[in-house]
Amino acid sequence: MLDRRDLLKSVSLLGAVSYGLPAGASAAGRDTPVPSLRVASGASPREVLSLNKGWRFFEGDIPFPKILGHGWSYANAKAGSAWGAAAASYDDTEWTHVTLPHDFASFQVPDERENLAQGYRKRGIAWYRNLLRFDESDRGKHIELQLDGISTHATIWLNGTLINRNWSGYNAIYVDITPYLSYGAALNSLVVRVDADAMQGWWYEGAGIYRNTWIVKRHPLHIETDGVFAHPVKTGDQWQIPVEVTLNNTTDRPQSAEIVSSLVDAAGRVVSECRLTAQIPPMQPGVATGRMSVRNPTLWDIDSPYLYQVRTQLIQQGRILDEVLTPAGFRTQSFDPDKGFFLNGRPLKLKGVCIHQDHAGVGVAVPPGLLEYRLHRLKELGCNAIRCSHNAQDKAFYALCDRMGFLVMDENRVFNPSPIHMAELEWLVRRDRNHPSIILWSVFNEEPMQGTEQGYQMVRRMVAKVKSLDTTRPVTAAMNDGLFTPVNVSQAVDVVGFNYQYQNYDAFHKAHPTLPITSSEDCSAFMTRGEYKTIKDKHIIASYDDDAADWGTTQRVGWKAIAERPFVAGTFVWTGFDYHGEPTPHQWPSNSSFFGIMDLCGFAKTAFWMRQAMWRSEPVLHLAPHWNWAGQEGQDILVMALHNMDAVELFLNGRSLGRQAGDRYEMNRWTVAYAPGKLSAVGYRYGKAVKRFEVETTGAPVQLKLTPFRPVMQGDGIDAQPFTVEALDAKGRHVPTAQHSVRFTVEGGDIIGLGNGNPNDISPEKGDTRALFNGLAQVIVQTREGQSGPLVLKAMAEGLKPATLRIDVQAAKPWPYQAVSESVQITENWRRAPEQAGPLDPDLRPKDNDMNSWGWFRAGVPFPAPDRDTEVLCAVEVEAYARVRKSGGVIECLGLLGPATLYIDGQKVAEKTSDGSASLSAPFPKGAGKHWVSLIFRARRRQPFGFTDVVRIRT
Ligand code: GAL
Repeated sequence: MLDRRDLLKSVSLLGAVSYGLPAGASAAGRDTPVPSLRVASGASPREVLSLNKGWRFFEGDIPFPKILGHGWSYANAKAGSAWGAAAASYDDTEWTHVTLPHDFASFQVPDERENLAQGYRKRGIAWYRNLLRFDESDRGKHIELQLDGISTHATIWLNGTLINRNWSGYNAIYVDITPYLSYGAALNSLVVRVDADAMQGWWYEGAGIYRNTWIVKRHPLHIETDGVFAHPVKTGDQWQIPVEVTLNNTTDRPQSAEIVSSLVDAAGRVVSECRLTAQIPPMQPGVATGRMSVRNPTLWDIDSPYLYQVRTQLIQQGRILDEVLTPAGFRTQSFDPDKGFFLNGRPLKLKGVCIHQDHAGVGVAVPPGLLEYRLHRLKELGCNAIRCSHNAQDKAFYALCDRMGFLVMDENRVFNPSPIHMAELEWLVRRDRNHPSIILWSVFNEEPMQGTEQGYQMVRRMVAKVKSLDTTRPVTAAMNDGLFTPVNVSQAVDVVGFNYQYQNYDAFHKAHPTLPITSSEDCSAFMTRGEYKTIKDKHIIASYDDDAADWGTTQRVGWKAIAERPFVAGTFVWTGFDYHGEPTPHQWPSNSSFFGIMDLCGFAKTAFWMRQAMWRSEPVLHLAPHWNWAGQEGQDILVMALHNMDAVELFLNGRSLGRQAGDRYEMNRWTVAYAPGKLSAVGYRYGKAVKRFEVETTGAPVQLKLTPFRPVMQGDGIDAQPFTVEALDAKGRHVPTAQHSVRFTVEGGDIIGLGNGNPNDISPEKGDTRALFNGLAQVIVQTREGQSGPLVLKAMAEGLKPATLRIDVQAAKPWPYQAVSESVQITENWRRAPEQAGPLDPDLRPKDNDMNSWGWFRAGVPFPAPDRDTEVLCAVEVEAYARVRKSGGVIECLGLLGPATLYIDGQKVAEKTSDGSASLSAPFPKGAGKHWVSLIFRARRRQPFGFTDVVRIRT
C-alpha cells in the first residue's frame, strides 16, 4: 500500500503548457453585487447544498439527564447514544423555527446586567436541531458537513454520535458525515449545542450558528475541502503557479486519477494548464504537486483587481469526478525595512482600517449584500487595506476583497500553539491562501507574553506552521509592548506589527534596521456622528477629532506619524466602523463603540472626510459642523475644514472669514459667530480654486426620504441591503438635527435589522421602528426566495410626509438546499432479543447488567434470512413527544417485511400477516411515561424479514 510519501513520488508532472495572453485583456469590473454561491460547474458531480433551512432553535440550556444504572451507563459510552436534547429522537416540535445565519444575541436588547464588552447583550447557551434526508442515490457519495462559524463553543452530534467540538467562534468545521448517515425515508438528526457564554474577545461576538452551513456531496475520490493551493508567484521575470492538490479516497481500493489544473481568465479562456497523475491509496489523504507557467498575465492591483480562476479537475477514465474553482491574482508584494510595502514593484502606503465583523441590526449574521455595502463604504473612504481584527471573517469577505481590490491582513484568533489551536491556524491559512487580497498573516493581537521567551517560542511554532502552508506572505504579530525585551516576538516574525506605540517607531527602526514594520493598530480616536459638543454625562463626544483613548491618538496625529515615516508600511486605524460592545470611554447605556471612522450603520462621521482628505489624491473639501444652530445666533461655533488643499477660504453668507494656508495633517479651523444661512468654503491648489463646499441652515423637517444602496435586488431570499432614511425640509434639504421615531413597512421582503449609529441607544435593533439619530437611520431589508417584482418599503413618522420606495427585485435562482424534514419522532436504539425456546413474551426486556444477550440495530434494513422458521422479538423503549402524550397519536412501522405482530407494553395492537413489505400502524396511547414497543416477526426459512423502513410516532 502506498503511503503519503510514495504518493508524492508517484505523482508525475506530465506537462505544463502555457499560452500567452491575448492582447487587451481588461480588468475585471465589479459584477453582480452579491457574491455568487460556490457551486459545482455542470461538469462535476460535486454538489454544494445550503443547510441554512429547517432548523429548530431553543434558547437556554437543556441539562442532560443524570445517567443511572448499568445498562444506561454502558450505552452512554457508545457511538450513537447521545441523551437529552442531543438524542436523535428528542422532542423539538415546540421549538422556534429559524433560518441560518442566526445570531441570537442580536435579538436581545441591551441589558445593564450583561457584559459591556458584548454590547450588554445576553448571550448564553442555546440548542439547534435539524433532520436531514438523504436519497438512496446519495449512498456511496462522500458527504461532508460544513459549519462556517458558530459563536462560540459548540458540540455537534449526528444521529446521536458526537462528531465534533468547536473551540473557536471564528473558524469553520468540516466533518465527513458519510459513515453516520442513513438513506431513504430514514432521517438523520443533526444537533448543535452552542455555548455563547464562552468568550474569545472583548467586543461583541454574537451567539449561535451565525454563518452559513453546507452539505457537500462528492465522489468518494475527490479533492479535499480547501485542498487546492494555486497562488501565482513571480521568480525573476517568470510567472508561475505552483499547484498543490490534496486528494481524498474513501473508496475501498487504491485509485489512479488525472488532475488537470487550468488557469481561466476573466473572459473564460484557458490560458495555462498543468496535468498530473496520482495514485491515491484508500482512506489516506495524498498531495499532488505541479506547476503552471504563465506569460504576461494581467496583474491584480487595488484599482484594477483582475481575477483569474484556477479550475482544478479530478478525472478518471475521462470522467470528471470533482472540480474546484479557486481565485488567482497575479501580483507581487514585499515589505522593505526602509521603504515600506510594495505592490507590483511600486511603493504603496497601506491606508488600512481594522474591523470587527458585526453591523447594526444584524449583529454578526451579516448577509453578503450588507458585507458588500461595508466594503463599498471603505472604498469610498480611500481605504486600501483591511485588518481582520482579531479573527477570521466569513469566506464571502475575502472573495469580495479580491474582487474589490483590498489588501488584507488575515488574523488568527487564539494565540496558542497547542494542537487544538494550531489546527485553527492551519485551517485559516488553508482556507484563505489563494486570495490575492491577502498580504499578511497575523498570528496574534496584543498578547501579554509578547515580550517573553515563552511568547517568542510560541510564535516560532505558529510561524513555522504558517510557512509550512504558505511562504508567499510574511507573518506578523500585533504587538503593543515587549518590543525591546531581550527575547521577544518581533524576533520571530517577518513584519513587526505595532499596536499604538508611536513613540517607538524611530527607536525600534534604529535598533532593528533590517526588520520591516507596519502599524497594525493605531488611533482609537472617539467621535459621535453628528455631534459637535462633548457632553460627558450624556456620553456624547464632539466630532472635531480632539479625543482619543489614552493609549491612542487623534486620526490626524496617528496618520501624520505614519505618513512621514517611509519605513512604516502603513496604518490600520482602529476602526473603520463602530461595532457593538467596547463602548470606551463610556459605560451603560453606551453599548457600541465610539472609535469608528463610520458609525455602526456605515454613516460617515467627520473622520470619514478627514481620512478621505488624508488618503485620497483627488480634491477633497468638506466642512463640519452642520449649520442648524437655531437659538445660538451670535455664539461662537467651531468650524473645521476637512481637506487636502493648499489653502481654504471660508465664507458665511458670502462674506469671507479668512483664507488659511492649508494644513493637510492638522486641517483648518475657524471660530464663527453663528448666523443662519450659508456656510461655504473654497479650496485652492497652486492658487487655483479647485473645490467648493457649502452647508446651509435648513427649515424644519417636513418629509422622509428613503435611499437604497443598490437599485436592484435578487429574489433569492439571501440578498439584503441597507436603506437610509432621513428627514428633509420643504426644500428637500437633509435636516441633520431630526430625531423622529420612524416606523417601516415592507412588502415583498423582510426587515432583518435596524440601526441609527447612536452608541447610547438601547432600543431594539429588530422590529419595525427606529428613531433617526442626528438625521439618519438605517433599515436592512432581505428579499424572499422566489419573489420578484417590486419590493415596496415605506417609512412613516409623526408630523412628516411618509416616504415610499420601490425597488426592483429580480427573479433569481434559489440556492440549492439540502433536503430537511419537519420534526418527526423516529424510534431509535432498537434491540433484538436473543433466540429463545418456546413462545416469546412481547414484554421481555434486557436485564440492566446484560450487555451481551440482546443486539442493537437501526430500523430500515431487513435481517438476513434464517435457515429455519423462527420467531424474533425486536423492541424499543419510547417516550412519545409532548403532543402525542397530550392527545394520543399513531405508531407507524413504515416498512415491515414478513408477518409480524406489534405490541405496546405487552398488549397486541396490530398485526400484519402478509409476506411482502408493507406498513403497519396502530394508535399510540396518550399519557406520560415510557412505553415498551415490541414486534414479533414470524420469520420463514430462507426469507429475509424485519424492517425495510423506520418506525415513527406522530399525532
Ligand atoms: C486595542 C485592542 C483592540 C481594541 C482597542 C481599543 O488594544 O487591540 O481590540 O480593544 O485597543 O482601543
